[in-house]
Amino acid sequence: MAAAGFFAPAAVTRESEENRLMNTDRITYTDPQQTLLDAMAEPLLAWYDAHKRTLPWRGTRDPYKIWVSEIMLQQTRVAAVIPYYQRWMAELPDVAALAAVEEEKLLKLWEGLGYYSRARNLKKAAGVIMEQHGGQFPHHYAELLKLPGIGEYTAGAIASIAFGERVSAVDGNVLRVATRTALLEGDIMDTRFRREMRQRMDQATPADRPGDFNQALMDLGATVCLPGGAPLCDACPLAGFCAAHAAGREQSLPVKRKKAPRRLEEMTVFLLLHQGRVALRKRPDTGLLAGLWEFPHVPGALDEAGAGAVLASWGLRPLEWRQKIEAKHIFTHVEWHMTGYLLEVRQAAGDFTWAAGADLEVMAVPSAFGKYLDEVRHTLENAT
Ligand code: ADE
Repeated sequence: MAAAGFFAPAAVTRESEENRLMNTDRITYTDPQQTLLDAMAEPLLAWYDAHKRTLPWRGTRDPYKIWVSEIMLQQTRVAAVIPYYQRWMAELPDVAALAAVEEEKLLKLWEGLGYYSRARNLKKAAGVIMEQHGGQFPHHYAELLKLPGIGEYTAGAIASIAFGERVSAVDGNVLRVATRTALLEGDIMDTRFRREMRQRMDQATPADRPGDFNQALMDLGATVCLPGGAPLCDACPLAGFCAAHAAGREQSLPVKRKKAPRRLEEMTVFLLLHQGRVALRKRPDTGLLAGLWEFPHVPGALDEAGAGAVLASWGLRPLEWRQKIEAKHIFTHVEWHMTGYLLEVRQAAGDFTWAAGADLEVMAVPSAFGKYLDEVRHTLENAT
């Protein structure tokens, strides 16, 4: 053995993300942790064959369907995604339909999932596929990665599930399963550690069933290797060699750095009613919740007197104050604490769109205002 072997980091023989992207020259890990990751495929695939969940986007290799489902699954749980997915596919069955869809309809199909830039990026990427790829989905990881809204995880999921490319798709579930199995204690918020995990999982991915392997990991993470204090190790096909299980360390993995606390924003929201209509305004075309409809609001938690002064500045006079409703919505980095006033005003003045109950069915209002939207719908229905 060469003397350099004493000093070189023996575990990694080559390191280049570019190579991974080109999928030409893989990094090779040779440490004991990797041996454990490499051992996952066989028992995991046997488990998957017996226990896989029946989901509407399984049993297809249509990259469009896999793509849409993966983006939706980044927003919420599988059970919540299913009705959204089915509605979406009924309205927009292929890339061409998505590329041509009107913004308002697109946002309506996404309403309630949150993070609307994901929906906009779906449409943007569909445009690129139509214009630059002749309507055909690119087949390789590296090309998929160039499309708007498609990152490492999504490119890996589409390439492996739809096209059988041997590449990993590492999300939070997969990180949990893998860091526990191999007892890897890196911080999963750290970009370098995540890259290492992607490379390690590329190596652990079997060439014959990469898509099934990735989905098996996702299913195991979602149903057995649960976060927090409750992994179901008795039901796990990897428990026989899981290093965290052997060490009794399942619950302390993965290691995750504490996030900075969320910023709190207080605001006063106006639910202004006039003759069976409610005042809405459109959010700006850029920034948080861009282009969606919202109830007018101002910063700060105002009392009735303060709220009355704001109404006056909009040229509105209250006829009847109905209700004060507190609500809270949590985004990734911000928390909205809202004080809402439901009231009847004397005239439909101000720079607003006055929407009837039926209009609310086609106007996309972010779920941050969900509680208020329910209240307004209820009030308008009872008034007619
Ligand atoms: N979570 C994200 N993608 C998934 C998939 N394809 N199957 C199951 N769970 C998932």
